[in-house]
Amino acid sequence: MTSNKMKSKKFIFVRNFDGIPKEEDFKLVEEVILDLQQGEFLAKAIYLSIDPYMRAYSSRIRLGETMIGSQVAIIIESKNENFPTGSYVLGQFGWTTHFISNGTAQDVTLYPPYLIEKDEQISLSLYLGALGRTGNSAYFGFLELCKPRSGETVVISGAAGAVGSHVGQIAKMKGCYVIAIAGNQEKLNWLKSLGFDYVINYKLDNIRSELTKAAPRGIDCYFDNVGGEISSVIMQHMNRYGRIAVCGSISSYNSNATDMPKATILQPTIVFNELTVTGFIVKTWLNRWNEGIEQNAKWIKEGKLKCRETIIDGFENMPKAFINMLNGGNFGKSIVKV
Ligand SMILES: NC(=O)c1ccc[n+]([C@@H]2O[C@H](COP(=O)([O-])OP(=O)(O)OC[C@H]3O[C@@H](n4cnc5c(N)ncnc54)[C@H](OP(=O)(O)O)[C@@H]3O)[C@@H](O)[C@H]2O)c1
Repeated sequence: MTSNKMKSKKFIFVRNFDGIPKEEDFKLVEEVILDLQQGEFLAKAIYLSIDPYMRAYSSRIRLGETMIGSQVAIIIESKNENFPTGSYVLGQFGWTTHFISNGTAQDVTLYPPYLIEKDEQISLSLYLGALGRTGNSAYFGFLELCKPRSGETVVISGAAGAVGSHVGQIAKMKGCYVIAIAGNQEKLNWLKSLGFDYVINYKLDNIRSELTKAAPRGIDCYFDNVGGEISSVIMQHMNRYGRIAVCGSISSYNSNATDMPKATILQPTIVFNELTVTGFIVKTWLNRWNEGIEQNAKWIKEGKLKCRETIIDGFENMPKAFINMLNGGNFGKSIVKV
């Protein structure tokens, strides 16, 4: 019973972001957990996901609302037979330590919570990354939209992040030549250790001349995590019939919607090279969700897919972890452990 007046902690959004988010944009509050109604279960967070979309979607969150986000939680009480006590659940419950759910999505923009099978070989945290939204963005976004063929040249921006590092490893498995772009030398060293062929530091290197050296015969596939001028330069090096999967545009997320950064016009290269440029939202593949999870889990168990995580301890550090990720402080998937 929850009538012992157990409390949950949550972060609410109290000030609209202006540029990079600040800790003062959030407020940590406590509230008494209500008694469960028939059909409900109470989940206690174990790992919470830190993602760029939290910044990109911030205009959709009203002041006073709980910050959005996914978590892996354990069900500590249940009046819903489909979500029994003691089982693990993946839910878009927000930045909160406890959540009461009736097993359906809170609104149409979200997907319903689902149970996770605990597997001794796999950390539960991976269900927020390689075995969740991140991994499926890499798996479906890259394979379905870039349609890579062995021997082709693939460029990935945001390559040391959760999605980017995953895409690069799939590209290597498919026999591609991988050019990875990231923001510091330590990340580039890590990407080299994963077997990526050529690395570029977008903060120090001249991307245009590096691409000329790295891809003298042009680029066939581009997996775009960052958008902006980096992407314009890359797209000008594409081969005829090149394929571009636009996953995100983090280079603009901290900008004011009325004053977005300008980038070089892309229509000439799209037309003359007959490029296919496709944006996607990973939910598109909700009906194939488990296929992505199963394939990524198989690759992990076979040792073919390495999943680096940046895990910050303590629920109270959610804002810090979020700001750290936006500033490039993460390698692979960014997560908070409660
Ligand atoms: N379409 C979808 O359904 C979907 C699903 C998941 C993710 N996404 C998108 O995929 C992208 C990557 O997400 P993720 O979860 O894997 O995050 P992530 O790459 O793990 O973390 C963000 C990284 O972005 C880089 N970054 C920050 N500001 C930048 C800038 N101005 N220019 C270039 N790079 C910058 C930083 O790395 P550096 O140190 O290299 O700068 C940072 O570590 C994001 O755009 C996200 O919105 C889309």
